[in-house]
Amino acid sequence: MKAAPTTHVIQLGYGKVGRPLVQLTVENRVRIERETGVRLKYAAVIRSASAILGDDLALRAADRGTFFDEWTARAPGMTLAVLDPVFDRFGLPDTTRYVLVDVTATAEMGSLLLEALGMGIPVVTANKIPLAETPGWFEQARAASQRAHTPFRYECTVGGSLPVISTLVDLMMTGDTIRHIVALPSSSLSCILGGFNRGIPLDAAIADAMRKGFTEPNPLTDLAGRDALRKIVILAKTIGLAINIGNVDQEPLLDRDYPDFESLRGDGMARLAARLTSARQPGMVTYYVGSASADGAVTLGLRSFPQASIWGTLEPSENLFLFSTARFGDLPVVVRGIGGGPMLTASGVLADVIKAAQG
Ligand SMILES: NC(=O)c1ccc[n+]([C@@H]2O[C@H](COP(=O)([O-])OP(=O)(O)OC[C@H]3O[C@@H](n4cnc5c(N)ncnc54)[C@H](OP(=O)(O)O)[C@@H]3O)[C@@H](O)[C@H]2O)c1
Repeated sequence: MKAAPTTHVIQLGYGKVGRPLVQLTVENRVRIERETGVRLKYAAVIRSASAILGDDLALRAADRGTFFDEWTARAPGMTLAVLDPVFDRFGLPDTTRYVLVDVTATAEMGSLLLEALGMGIPVVTANKIPLAETPGWFEQARAASQRAHTPFRYECTVGGSLPVISTLVDLMMTGDTIRHIVALPSSSLSCILGGFNRGIPLDAAIADAMRKGFTEPNPLTDLAGRDALRKIVILAKTIGLAINIGNVDQEPLLDRDYPDFESLRGDGMARLAARLTSARQPGMVTYYVGSASADGAVTLGLRSFPQASIWGTLEPSENLFLFSTARFGDLPVVVRGIGGGPMLTASGVLADVIKAAQG
């Protein structure tokens, strides 16, 4: 039997998602090759100030976790030059199949990902920042991907491993029209407000979300709603809306900017709890919800729904995405579940890598 061609993975980032991604790839590579014909090998794992080249080192890193003595220091910054040692070792992209995977959380990656797409290197990313925060980046990436027929996959930027983007894209590709999206995209706010809806005091609900690992180390980041905002922007862009993050009609959760979480405690927390309490009505649940409509309106804010609806059945930290489409009529397409967390996200990224390698 003819051997499957090898796809060389270049992975940017080796943090909470990057580590299980190497592990999952290594553990499942035989099955992946058998079932999909995609043979994955690591070309490089690149971190902020160090890198490893070659599959053997990736294997050992997956086996034993991070060992800094095996990582080679690299110059800071993220330009195409960072890939030169990879191309020297494995060949230029016209002779070698690569997939570039971004599991960092920095805007700095944006230009490299665009250049890669322009060179015909498929790109997979879990990093929301260039897509949502850099004006025009998403549109450029999509155009570059279409021009060069090069996969650009970003499933895990919105629902972790949940099939959110692929569901939307499949609906649109087959000629359906997306009329309206309603989304509860933030696991941390789902956990906090889900707890509050069940009668848990706000500070205890936040502490619970922190203990379960759903919040950022500084939960103020979650309460400021930036993560949810980025996700609704990516959803809106996916359905073709010309939206920038600054144009979203956002009702902030917090009444003002707080320098740190400590400064929210006390009066700030009491004001937020009072606001959530006044939004709460009998028989209803309240969540921080995004929406995007075909007419161009994109919103994010507190919304209440009947306890007897799907919203009343959510477990704290569950995400919910409702897609109303022309073809599905009155009943929306529903994607729900807990998709985030490092291992689940890594599995979603790996699925994207396999699909990108398949072209
Ligand atoms: N964690 C989740 O559950 C989850 C869910 C969905 C999506 N995501 C997204 O997945 C991405 C990764 O998340 P994470 O939790 O793994 O983040 P993380 O633990 O903070 O890891 C970030 C990684 O990026 C590397 N990095 C930072 N700047 C870099 C640069 N200039 N060049 C190369 N590498 C650089 C860091 O390098 P060092 O190792 O040298 O510090 C680190 O390895 C984020 O965009 C996040 O929003 C995460």
